[in-house]
Amino acid sequence: MAQRILSGVQSSGRLHLGNYYGAIREFVRLQDEGEALYFIANYHALTSVRDAALARRLTFETAVAFLALGLDPARATLFRQSDVPEIGELYWVLGTVVPLSNLHRAHSFKDKVNNKGIEDPEFGLFAYPVLMAADILLYDSDVVPVGRDQRQHLEFARDWATKFNMRYVPGYDPQEPERVPGVFKLPSVRTRDETAVVPGRDGQKMSKSYGNTVDLFAPEREVEKQIKSVKTDSTPPDQPKPTENQPLYQLLKLVLPEPAFADADRAWRTGGDPKTNGYGYFKGLLFEGYRQAFGTARARYDELLQDPAEVERTLASGAQRARAFAAPVIRRVRDAVGL
Ligand code: TYM
Repeated sequence: MAQRILSGVQSSGRLHLGNYYGAIREFVRLQDEGEALYFIANYHALTSVRDAALARRLTFETAVAFLALGLDPARATLFRQSDVPEIGELYWVLGTVVPLSNLHRAHSFKDKVNNKGIEDPEFGLFAYPVLMAADILLYDSDVVPVGRDQRQHLEFARDWATKFNMRYVPGYDPQEPERVPGVFKLPSVRTRDETAVVPGRDGQKMSKSYGNTVDLFAPEREVEKQIKSVKTDSTPPDQPKPTENQPLYQLLKLVLPEPAFADADRAWRTGGDPKTNGYGYFKGLLFEGYRQAFGTARARYDELLQDPAEVERTLASGAQRARAFAAPVIRRVRDAVGL
């Protein structure tokens, strides 16, 4: 049977190069390798977006971004998390096996609370990994492509699925899950080493919450400004430049096509002519590379923004398909726990 691939992206703001190279590019590749389901995590987004009109707008824009970047509704199921009501039920039932201690050590929760200086974080943010595990388990997924920041969430999903299976399925043995099948399948995480952590302008992980992004669909002038503000060191233009911990170098490597990067790499490592070897020059190259890489997607994005009815039709038919995948799983869950 074709393997089932599942992943989601929060509709909490503008998408950036980290989302693309860390996740969405992989989604596009995988849509031909199995039965792929991709969704807009608009319930998760409610932990940070507190305005209804904005929440709706961002959900729509994320759907448009998926389509513009090459997700194809004929090959993959694209849907909105909130269009599958079964998710709420699974979220609750799964919560009954989740150890609080796991949630207390969730990196993403700690990061968000520390970064934003939140004094009294809400339950929704705390329980975020439970909803995410429900997303993963509800569709019997085999493979979940994500960036490194989501790996711990995947481990939780596997641990809780195992716990649930052990509690409710007599004879279930986590060492031999094929012998007596569990209620839940245990999915595996898929991260590519070279894009697991795409650096932001300041060299930390690129993230909306760090304010260090290069955006995929912002106005071009803004993107140019973002690229100009990528942090560099004080190596003079005519000197060879270090390649370690240099976000500009790492971004060039991701964005430029292979032969163009090989030229840039040579110039970077050798130094020489100050006009063509200074950081300003490389920033220009990165901006040009960005325009080449995303020009078509950006044009398509603008077109699709004008056609909300078409996007809505795509999401509605995706939701129907997603619910059909969810139905047998939720039936097994209800049977197992006695609902
Ligand atoms: P989100 O919306 O923060 O990010 C979407 C995807 O982009 C990846 N990503 C990165 N990868 C590499 N480098 C970066 N700088 C970078 N920034 C973001 C993320 O790892 C992710 O794969 N909780 C999830 C959404 C979600 C989900 C799910 C994902 C909800 N339910 C079920 C998979 C399965 C999130 O907030 O991702």
